[in-house]
Amino acid sequence: MADALVVAEGVKKNFLHMGRTLEVLRGIDLAIYHGEIVAIVGQSGAGKSTLLHCFGTLDVPTSGSLKLDGEELTGLSSSRLADIRNRHIGFVFQFHHLLPEFNAVENVMMPGMIQGRPRKELEARARALIEEVGLKDRASHRPGELSGGEQQRVALARALVLEPKLILADEPTGNLDSKTSAQIHELFFAINKQRGTTIVVVTHNLPFAASMPRVVSLKDGRVEKDERKSDVKRDIDTAAEAEVARAADEPKKSATA
Ligand SMILES: Nc1ncnc2c1ncn2[C@@H]1O[C@H](COP(=O)(O)OP(=O)(O)OP(=O)(O)O)[C@@H](O)[C@H]1O
Ligand SMILES: [Mg+2]
Repeated sequence: MADALVVAEGVKKNFLHMGRTLEVLRGIDLAIYHGEIVAIVGQSGAGKSTLLHCFGTLDVPTSGSLKLDGEELTGLSSSRLADIRNRHIGFVFQFHHLLPEFNAVENVMMPGMIQGRPRKELEARARALIEEVGLKDRASHRPGELSGGEQQRVALARALVLEPKLILADEPTGNLDSKTSAQIHELFFAINKQRGTTIVVVTHNLPFAASMPRVVSLKDGRVEKDERKSDVKRDIDTAAEAEVARAADEPKKSATA
């Protein structure tokens, strides 16, 4: 197995609310490997968003260890966490949070503009991403002039603009109809496959989760199940390799026959 990108060991997260301690994450042990696409599922309140926020350095565990690409995140200063977040992590939320006064390309450029990256280079990259997510003809539309699915495509392109190692998505299609959701789901798979970006998606969409090679189920702040279909994939890969080898062998056989 490849190296782990995210490693959580005994991650606990408590919230203090009205003088009471709420134990939301109760000891999460989980490793996400480079290049994986993983679904996180579980009932409302199970702690999915809280875990995703910890993975994304938007929140810090109360205790336990959380590493991103080998670096321990707990105990880092908020400026160091922000730096890691900006350089390595892209977010897609249920609501796109696009800026209404900027068009699609400008919204995609925004994370780079904030970092002071050269405008020309950013614009070229943003245009390529807008095309990659299938919005070539909508590049100059503002969010109000885009459908919900198109807005979410822009949000995905924006998450990719700084070429993060990790994309964290929290119910990215929670707000979309099933056909539009399925198209966005395909886009996640395409990005994972073509770019090798590691993707963790929290979803209530069970068909989408079921189509994932790995599904982690949370219950009451713990990992209840962690199911992989990689063996199935490996079987397919092995069969495909055998087929390629057989096909390559075929002409030689007929030549020698
Ligand atoms: N800042 C906070 N302060 C107090 N309690 C919180 C805070 N954030 C989350 N919680 C509580 O933690 C629990 C888990 O919340 P979380 O948002 O992680 O759930 P979830 O699994 O993402 O649920 P959903 O599927 O509804 O989005 C909930 O009971 C919630 O009320
Ligand atoms: Mg949530």
